Amino acid sequence: MAQVKFDEMIAQKIAQHGLDARLAAVLNALADAITRIEADVRIGPLAGNIGLAGAQNVQGEDQKALDVIADIHVQKALEGVAGVAALVSEELDDVIWLKEPQQGDFLVYYDPLDGSSNLDVNLSVGTIFSIIPVQADGDRNVLHPGRLQICAGYALYGPATTIVLTFGDDVQGFTMDPQTGAFLRSHDAFSVPTDAAEFAINISRYRHLPPGFRAYIDDCLAGKDGPRGRDLNMRWVASMVAEIHRILTRGGVFLYPVDAKTLDKGGRLRLMYEANPMSMIMAAAGGAGSTGWQDIVDVMPQGHHDRVSVVIGSANEVAEVVRYNASYPKNMGSA
Ligand code: AHG
Ligand code: MN
Ligand code: MN
Repeated sequence: MAQVKFDEMIAQKIAQHGLDARLAAVLNALADAITRIEADVRIGPLAGNIGLAGAQNVQGEDQKALDVIADIHVQKALEGVAGVAALVSEELDDVIWLKEPQQGDFLVYYDPLDGSSNLDVNLSVGTIFSIIPVQADGDRNVLHPGRLQICAGYALYGPATTIVLTFGDDVQGFTMDPQTGAFLRSHDAFSVPTDAAEFAINISRYRHLPPGFRAYIDDCLAGKDGPRGRDLNMRWVASMVAEIHRILTRGGVFLYPVDAKTLDKGGRLRLMYEANPMSMIMAAAGGAGSTGWQDIVDVMPQGHHDRVSVVIGSANEVAEVVRYNASYPKNMGSA
């Protein structure tokens, strides 16, 4: 049976949900940018661009050359597309306004290259995107809660290059056919197991964590002899897209909590183009996305580079973390 192509699925979803037909061109343009990013990522070590770009981004992080290259691919792909009113990129200080915003136009938030610290060690990286409609004519405002997303997705540049996409109802995966470059459906409907057998956290930050998170980790490590009554495994790839894809596939929970070292910034990961899209995807697959205290998609941004505490994964495990936090004050660990 002929496999469904990415653009065919998009056309079906737009018709099924009565969405703005212009969304198809936006998503197909993103797929084109992903194809270009994929080619640059794979040739990276030979092209000499897996190193530093020699500049820092607004996050205060050393930009990799490929961070900048990936960002330009997305900008160029979207700048001519009807209805795209603004771009919010992890790599750009300011919002790019492409047109006078009219209600229903698209605000596109994206992390052009996620996990880029993995590039020089040849581990998986990704691209993350989120789309929210302009709320009112002339509304030059990009600060909206994730609950308003109409679409979210990511590309994982792993052993295979796969785009995962949701319109909020289901979550589908499309894998690039290396022969033709076409994205063909490889996953009809991700459904994340409600219980987790694995947790993912950068454990080196343990002493900085809020007490509720420390208690949760303690009990995960206590395994079957402790309050959890079962052993859990641990994974950490240092690439959010890879962690989320693993959890979508076999369950688990990904934690990047706000801690004493990141309290002044609100956390490590970014709300608009990391936490919100991944929360929408996980929820559409039956999981959940929380700060550890509230749903991520209910967080009201103050700035388009806001950071947030992140707990995303199997519904029951996210609820367990929230339960631990409810029993402890929200103070932080050691700075
Ligand atoms: P980015 O490369 O876009 O800055 O994102 C990296 C993020 C996320 O992908 C990953 O989970 C996390 O940083 C890894 O953090 P550590 O370096 O603390 O492991
Ligand atoms: Mn990222
Ligand atoms: Mn990034």
